[in-house]
Parts: sequence; structure tokens; C-alpha cells
Amino acid sequence: MRPDSLQDFLDATREAFTTHVSDPRAVASLARIFAALEAPGALSGAPGARLPACAHLTKAANPSKFSDPILRRFVEAFLRLEPDLQWRTRSGDVSTAGPDFANGHANAIIAGPGGAERRSDAWLGVSLVAPGVRYPDHTHPPEETYLVLSNGQFRQGTDDWFEPGIGGTLYNVPGIVHAMRAGSEPLFAFWALWAEPHQTKAGP
Ligand SMILES: [Fe+2]
Repeated sequence: MRPDSLQDFLDATREAFTTHVSDPRAVASLARIFAALEAPGALSGAPGARLPACAHLTKAANPSKFSDPILRRFVEAFLRLEPDLQWRTRSGDVSTAGPDFANGHANAIIAGPGGAERRSDAWLGVSLVAPGVRYPDHTHPPEETYLVLSNGQFRQGTDDWFEPGIGGTLYNVPGIVHAMRAGSEPLFAFWALWAEPHQTKAGP
């Protein structure tokens, strides 16, 4: 049995992603992800842990800034679950990151390896990037769909930076290089990955 806070969050996540995503590749990916999430995984049981960048949650995850009731419910469900999440910094190559990256970002995995619910098929996570900070170029085999809940820019491959806006989405094909950067306010976004059995390396 999942705790109510986790199940409520997963229900709200499904509603938020499926009502905002229209790219057919992302729609298909999300269908696989949420079908897999019907079966609970093992709970980590680890206590929640925050990082300095989590101070930006107060502004980034303020429910009153969301006029869309689906997004507002999603953020409220996230805030009920958030004390149980383990926020971490990104490991791996950060050579393309901005100078304040180390203390200027935090990621948490809700479902996935090392997440609040441990599993390897469907991944759900959240990223918080401090104002003015650039998240490094990175790549991973699983396909990925982002639901963006703030202003801030994204890049796929060598394309120009673009701003999905609040409620905007983007789909990363397997293996594409991608990055994000915050402007004058924190960047706050959720991501959902579908990992085939042979795909183990993932993350934001
Ligand atoms: Fe990613």
C-alpha cells in the first residue's frame, strides 16, 4: 500500500501530465509510465532531506501562482509529499553548467532508482534551478517528458533555447543532449521517463 500522500501525488501527476501533453510520442510514453505505476514499488523509507536550493520552493511552488486548477492541485499534492523526498545534486559531467550550479540546483526522484518509491521502469522526478543558473548539457537513453511549472528556458540538441512557459511541455527522444537554465526566477519542472529494461542510466 502506498501512503496517501504518494498515491495522491501520482494521481495528480497523471492528471497534470496527460492534460498538458499533446506530442504523440510523449502521450505514448506517458501511457506506458502510468500503466506501470498502477503497480506500487517498494518504499525507500529514507527520511526526507533538503538542499540549500530548496529555499526557492517557497516561490516556485506557491500554489496561488497557478491559475489552472489542475496544476494548482498538482503542486498542492507535491507540497504534501515534499517533506518525505530526498533532494540531491546532480552527479556526472557538469562542465557546461553555470558557475553557481553546485548550490543552485536540487533534484528529487519520487519514483525510480533511489526515489521515494524504488523502481526501474517508470521514473518521476522534479528539478529546481536557482535564478540565473544553467543546468549542464546531459543525455540518457530513456525518453523523457517534461512538464514545466515556471518560466525558464530549455534546449534540445543544438537547437535554440526556448521557453515552454507554465504548463508547457517538451519531449526528449532517447539519447538527445538537453539542458535548461533559469532566468530571473527559479526554474521548476517535473520529468517523467520510461526506461526499457536495458536502459539504466537516466535522471534530469
Ligand atoms: Fe533529462
